[in-house]
Amino acid sequence: MKAGSLSLLLMALLHLPSATATGGTFQHVLDAMQQNASGSNFPLSKIRAMSSCMSSVSRESATNFNLIDAMDLLFEGFVEWGVNNGTDGVEHPQPCNDGSDLWDQPQNYQERFLSPMAKDETLLPGATEVLITQPCNYNSNVAYFSSMLAMCDPDQGKDIWSMSTSTRSLLAASFGSLGSGSAFFHGSGTQLGCRLDNAPIAHIALTSYQQAVSSLAPDEVVANVQPIEKMVNGSKNGTELINEFVNIFAEHNIFEWDQKVLDLNNFFQDDYKLTFAGIVVLNARMELPTRVGDLLLKFLCEAFGFDDYMTDFLLSDFDLRLQQLLKLKPELSQGDKRELLKRGLGVLLKIGYAMAWQEELFVGPWLPSSGANKIGAWLMPFVNALADKMTTYRHSLTVKTGLHVYPDCERCRSQEPHSKWHEESAVGLTDLVYLTDDIDALLRGGTLVDGTLVDGVQDGVNEEVFVGMVESFLAGPEADCMRKGFAKGGLECVADLWGISSTLVDSVAFCEAEGGDMDCLVASINEGGSLLVNKCRKDEFDAANFLSCANSVVGGKASLFAILEFLVLQ
Ligand SMILES: *[C@@H]1O[C@H](CO)[C@@H](O)[C@H](O)[C@H]1NC(C)=O
Ligand SMILES: *[C@@H]1O[C@H](CO)[C@@H](O)[C@H](O)[C@H]1NC(C)=O
Ligand SMILES: *[C@@H]1O[C@H](CO)[C@@H](O)[C@H](O)[C@H]1NC(C)=O
Ligand SMILES: *[C@@H]1O[C@H](CO)[C@@H](O)[C@H](O)[C@H]1NC(C)=O
Repeated sequence: MKAGSLSLLLMALLHLPSATATGGTFQHVLDAMQQNASGSNFPLSKIRAMSSCMSSVSRESATNFNLIDAMDLLFEGFVEWGVNNGTDGVEHPQPCNDGSDLWDQPQNYQERFLSPMAKDETLLPGATEVLITQPCNYNSNVAYFSSMLAMCDPDQGKDIWSMSTSTRSLLAASFGSLGSGSAFFHGSGTQLGCRLDNAPIAHIALTSYQQAVSSLAPDEVVANVQPIEKMVNGSKNGTELINEFVNIFAEHNIFEWDQKVLDLNNFFQDDYKLTFAGIVVLNARMELPTRVGDLLLKFLCEAFGFDDYMTDFLLSDFDLRLQQLLKLKPELSQGDKRELLKRGLGVLLKIGYAMAWQEELFVGPWLPSSGANKIGAWLMPFVNALADKMTTYRHSLTVKTGLHVYPDCERCRSQEPHSKWHEESAVGLTDLVYLTDDIDALLRGGTLVDGTLVDGVQDGVNEEVFVGMVESFLAGPEADCMRKGFAKGGLECVADLWGISSTLVDSVAFCEAEGGDMDCLVASINEGGSLLVNKCRKDEFDAANFLSCANSVVGGKASLFAILEFLVLQ
């Protein structure tokens, strides 16, 4: 070995973070969390897996940070904040970024009692003085570390990747920051925490989206999902943002974080709803007949309650530019169109289910109901299985079943709406990364069906029948309900239409009087006989069977299920 390469090796070894256990603040915070939940430390095997993932991320040449150090420093700042009773400029409590004071509305974030970060100070000096504002919503962020692991693990998700390992590593780092940043938010209840929670979601969405469109001809509006009048000089792309964001913790103290994150937000379109919308438009334009796309996209803008400015930008600017760029690419085969549609709907199902529990995007009377929260938790693995059937993406057993996915998850999942959002959005965002990578592969001339039969058929959908079904759905009562807006009674309206809400409400009221037992709920719903999910759940998670069963249970009134069934079966 030459002297030069020997010293390089030595340098590399010196910079290598420990590949066994981190032993730093990050690990101690997790140990304290697990000790409070079960009396034992956080499983060492998981600590090792995270540690090795974070080390490999830090070794990538595209990353300019050490992720373990950055996460240690983030939690050190958190402890410092707590010890100082709320550090200057990082007061507690503060409204979230949009000025609406969600935090103080009683129906939001159910759990509101303070609990110390650790029982004693052996692991974390000062930790008994750090009072966690929302323990369950704090713990449940550990689910995002499973997403970080998924980005590092070649056995998860999909076999063939279009994006580079360095982009995946940056996404892993962003999922790590999301878990830690959101833990800081729900632990501290500060405005800084809120920003640390929201920024990584926007970075993950933008990085995945930009991967998907990376082979299209350059167009600033398309590349950033941003109106031209909002563009700034020197705007940063997703991977640049992740690098700079993680470095904030490594290079600055907690007093400066808020301003640094705000400064960084000026260099990109930081409304992740708009970026998600960009992904939906892209998906729709690649696989749907133009007329269906036109109708559906307009409908979705209404259902998601987009304002005129956002709708106008998406449909009259962004969409038109995107269609021009897509025309320069060869059209997808019918088999690929159908496969992409199924995968896209599967991802939408998970993200939609997550949103139902976020307490922000869809707000409804189910949120404070303890019965609805229990049912919501019980349904989660089922929703995931149904969505996985449609997407074909692979997840670890922990993620699929939710078993020990975060400390105290059994209690928190059925108790808190927002804990469900954390767990489900973690897996939904992971799937979004897989989906955008598939789109990139397709736009680069790849295929998702690759000569093999998908569910026995390789054709696309029968376009005429499909267009007819979508048109009659859009002209029907379900779509009218949804046009009110998912956040403004649209979902309850659909449930009434299908006749499932009354049974559900009766059962919940009855069983809550009896002590809120889950067995009681299931039995009572069964007796009422009309809660589709329980009746149809036994079909061993077979998507097609579930959908036809579900539609028959609601008396054939769910044209939405009929469309999904058609897509899955045809
Ligand atoms: C924090 O608050 C406690 C109780 O109000 C008080 O005893 C302590 O001195 C405060 N610490 C600091 C650093 O202000
Ligand atoms: C610690 O455990 C108690 C008892 O189960 C619980 O009420 C509290 O929320 C937990 N705190 C945290 C930070 O998880
Ligand atoms: C942005 O770039 C344009 C064109 O290069 C230049 O004219 C303008 O002065 C720049 N604006 C700022 C604020 O730097
Ligand atoms: C983002 O910027 C980095 C650094 O300038 C560059 O290497 C990378 O290719 C860009 N990514 C995309 C998707 O354009």
